[in-house]
Amino acid sequence: QHRCSHINSSICLNRLSSCVKNAVKALSTSNQHINKTQQCKMLPGLVSSQAQLCRTNLELMQTIVQAAREVKKTCQKTFADMRWNCSSIEAPKYLPDLERGTRESAFVYALSAAAISHTIARACTTGDLKLCTCGPIPGDTPEPGYRWGGCADNLHYGLLVGSKFSDAPMKMKKKSGSHANKLMHLHNSEVGRQVLKDALVMKCKCHGVSGSCSIRTCWRGLQDLKEIAMDLKAKYLSATKVVHRPMGTRKQLVPKDIDIRPVRENELVYLQSSPDFCTRNEKLGSVGTQERQCNKTSSGSDSCDLMCCGRGYNPYTEKVVERCHCKYHWCCYVTCKKCERTVERYVCK
Ligand SMILES: *[C@@H]1O[C@H](CO)[C@@H](O)[C@H](O)[C@H]1NC(C)=O
Ligand SMILES: *[C@@H]1O[C@H](CO)[C@@H](O)[C@H](O)[C@H]1NC(C)=O
Ligand SMILES: *[C@@H]1O[C@H](CO)[C@@H](O)[C@H](O)[C@H]1NC(C)=O
Repeated sequence: QHRCSHINSSICLNRLSSCVKNAVKALSTSNQHINKTQQCKMLPGLVSSQAQLCRTNLELMQTIVQAAREVKKTCQKTFADMRWNCSSIEAPKYLPDLERGTRESAFVYALSAAAISHTIARACTTGDLKLCTCGPIPGDTPEPGYRWGGCADNLHYGLLVGSKFSDAPMKMKKKSGSHANKLMHLHNSEVGRQVLKDALVMKCKCHGVSGSCSIRTCWRGLQDLKEIAMDLKAKYLSATKVVHRPMGTRKQLVPKDIDIRPVRENELVYLQSSPDFCTRNEKLGSVGTQERQCNKTSSGSDSCDLMCCGRGYNPYTEKVVERCHCKYHWCCYVTCKKCERTVERYVCK
């Protein structure tokens, strides 16, 4: 079993999710007196303050496992067109890569922190968490034709409890991980939560005779995690390299190459340059781009030129089945035929 007090808990929990599931299952099926001290000890890799959260709020663990799954899925989708495709989250042996303080780890920490708070905020709304309820109804009166209603995502609770869990490994006094790395992870986690705050938007539902929408019921809801991940990807692309330097009485992270200015609250920061991810190098956490699919007509990062690092590519054909010749029938259904089409695709040499 892994001890992973020094690494981000959500990455860690990826591996631990089966342990957590077992613990939660044992709890829910047990009609005996529940010994939470015991149960939370069954979850390896939790640092002490996380284990304490677990004891006081065991159902939270299920939510965090769900967040860990979301992080993996969303990260891989968001980076499907990049050389680094978030494989580090998949293969535990690449985890050291995410601990090196690279741009990629900056993204993963920010996304993890956002995802944990996001999932908790939503779990309050769906009733999956008993210790919280809907978020507050806004104080201001909405425009005419609109009224507040529904159940707001509880962002406040999500941020409060989520940051307690996410930041616990970085706030521990001892244990492994350099001070600089901890500062970096804490900063990037906060950036992730800031992006999450900006993702709280007004959502409305129409009412009125036959969908006339004469009155709308509105609440504050969070955008999907993939939107948040896209914002963070933009920040990843423009992340700032920093160094750990004495500033006043303490050592802080300051931008490396730019004029003297403090680190901005809305920028992702990293300490170590990344490899180009072209070739396989397990030590650096690169799986390389051999066999990756590329896009011959794209001019972006998924273009065959960039993705394959100039090595060239091999074409292959694939049959895709699509719905076609669709017909609308009164009232109200659609029938379609299935058409087969051959498409040419390319993979890097
Ligand atoms: C729970 O289990 C731990 C470890 O086995 C034990 O020390 C503790 O006394 C138990 N607590 C209760 C309330 O049964
Ligand atoms: C990432 O790229 C590697 C190397 O080509 C590949 O083996 C892996 O399946 C990819 N992962 C995802 C999630 O696409
Ligand atoms: C390839 O890139 C082009 C241009 O960006 C895009 O329109 C097309 O959908 C992409 N093809 C695939 C298979 O992703």
